[in-house]
Amino acid sequence: MWDTKRGRHASSLRALSRFLLTATAVMSLAPLALVIAVRAQSTAQDPGVRGGPPDAGTFVTGLTTNQKGVEGTITGTFTEINAVTQTGNGATGNFGLGPRFNFNSCNGCHAQPAVGGAAPFTNGFFQVFDLNGALNEMPSFESEAGVMANARFPQVLPGNPYPIPAGFTQELFTITGRSDAGSCDLEQPNFNGAQAANDLIFRTPLPMFGDGLMEIIPETQLLANQTAECAEEASTGICGTPQLAPDTTISRFGWKAQERSALIFSSAAYNTEEGVSTEGFPNELDDTNPNCILNGIPEDHWNFINPSPHRFPGDPERQALFIRFLAAPTPAPPNSTTIAGQNEFNSIGCNICHSSPSPTQFKTPLSAISALSNQNVNIFSDLLLHHMGNCLADGVVQGVAQGDMFRTAPLWGVGQRIFFMHDGRTSDIVQAVEDHSDQWCTGGPGFTGYQASEADSVVAAFNALSTTNQQDLIDFLRSL
Ligand code: HEC
Ligand code: HEC
Repeated sequence: MWDTKRGRHASSLRALSRFLLTATAVMSLAPLALVIAVRAQSTAQDPGVRGGPPDAGTFVTGLTTNQKGVEGTITGTFTEINAVTQTGNGATGNFGLGPRFNFNSCNGCHAQPAVGGAAPFTNGFFQVFDLNGALNEMPSFESEAGVMANARFPQVLPGNPYPIPAGFTQELFTITGRSDAGSCDLEQPNFNGAQAANDLIFRTPLPMFGDGLMEIIPETQLLANQTAECAEEASTGICGTPQLAPDTTISRFGWKAQERSALIFSSAAYNTEEGVSTEGFPNELDDTNPNCILNGIPEDHWNFINPSPHRFPGDPERQALFIRFLAAPTPAPPNSTTIAGQNEFNSIGCNICHSSPSPTQFKTPLSAISALSNQNVNIFSDLLLHHMGNCLADGVVQGVAQGDMFRTAPLWGVGQRIFFMHDGRTSDIVQAVEDHSDQWCTGGPGFTGYQASEADSVVAAFNALSTTNQQDLIDFLRSL
């Protein structure tokens, strides 16, 4: 029904202007109660994480026998636990942790609803912070039932023991005290100071199901979608911006689309999250203290000892292959409620940013991995950056993304997600929708001075729907 972009936008636009007209009429009559009624927040209820077995975490169908042959190896690399120094597990073995780190494996953070996913119900930081005698304090913002939150300081905090430029990840822990960390002696970042100075923001793990498809959506399709989106900006207020990679192609990975590929992200994550230096990012993150440099760099590297096809490349190549092979999440079968909900989602304009599937929309080109060729990518995202207002802003500039800009979060798999938005501020998917607009948003570090959220009118249109229609829309989200 929404098979052309134009039709879809025209319809969104009609619904939006209908809403704005009603709102204006109501306000010019000026009875306060009615104005408040229009401004009221949604009364829909989040049914919660969709139950049953995980609808994600399997590999794509159609892999060749040889490709299937590496599934165990690449899963093993994604789930391996890294210690500080080599424990005799081969030349690409499970070592290189620290000197600073957040966790000791990829799947520790990427676990819900299956390996490769988002943050789990139980915060794994409580298992690693004092492991092997490590002397870390748990930062006060982490809680056992809370989201696993990575920290960044949007400004440069004076006197911070880990003084890096503003906005980059401040690893939570150091290897100091661990039995395999020699006499390494490093201090954790000054999280209490940062919190007191209101200089602390969080990022929560993103799931990577379907990322092999996301990675290769042709530029022309993303740009054609952007052109159609921006043509309606005067009435919708929405016009996304692509993030640019160093080779000028459109970057897609991360909350601000700051990384271009699964390979680059894996290489960066290995060092940023685990402190394992790689051929992509060859130095230790913090090499100020010689007592903490316990391995040759890069710690992870091509394996010359056992050059069989399965053992040859370094871990980021294997992690990237694991990510590329992961199939997109499978939505629940549609029913009359979720079909009605999807219609509401489209008619109020959620689908302008969360671009939804249509035969003409995103489709992968011919891929060297033939199972990834010519696939529809039902990602529910334009993969563009949008201004999202003061309440969501995190003050971190990454590439062309300003402090208030985020990539439209893909909604595939959102039905089985626990924590929402870049900082995991809410587990209530209704609140996640409200959080798109300063008017109804809660949480966040409290920035001021950014422009209004591009999603303001769409969220207002959501709040103006009947409770039944709102609930259908929320049920649709939880079916994804
Ligand atoms: C301590 C928790 C943590 C660990 C460990 C971790 N990640 Fe992540 N991951 C994150 C966070 C947080 C983000 C979002 C980062 C951002 O955009 O600021 C993320 C995002 C990603 C993404 C982007 C997904 C997308 O679709 O945009 C990929 C890919 C990824 N991680 C791969 C890895 C790999 C590979 C490893 C292991 C080497 C790893 N991660 C280890 C927390 C973690
Ligand atoms: C102007 C573009 C835009 C519009 C319109 C929009 N969204 Fe979003 N949406 C985003 C962005 C950007 C994020 C990520 C925000 C962040 O990182 O904090 C997001 C995040 C989400 C999330 C959380 C996903 C996650 O992974 O945490 C949900 C759910 C969601 N949107 C639903 C909706 C619904 C429902 C509507 C319509 C009422 C809507 N959105 C309209 C841009 C938009």
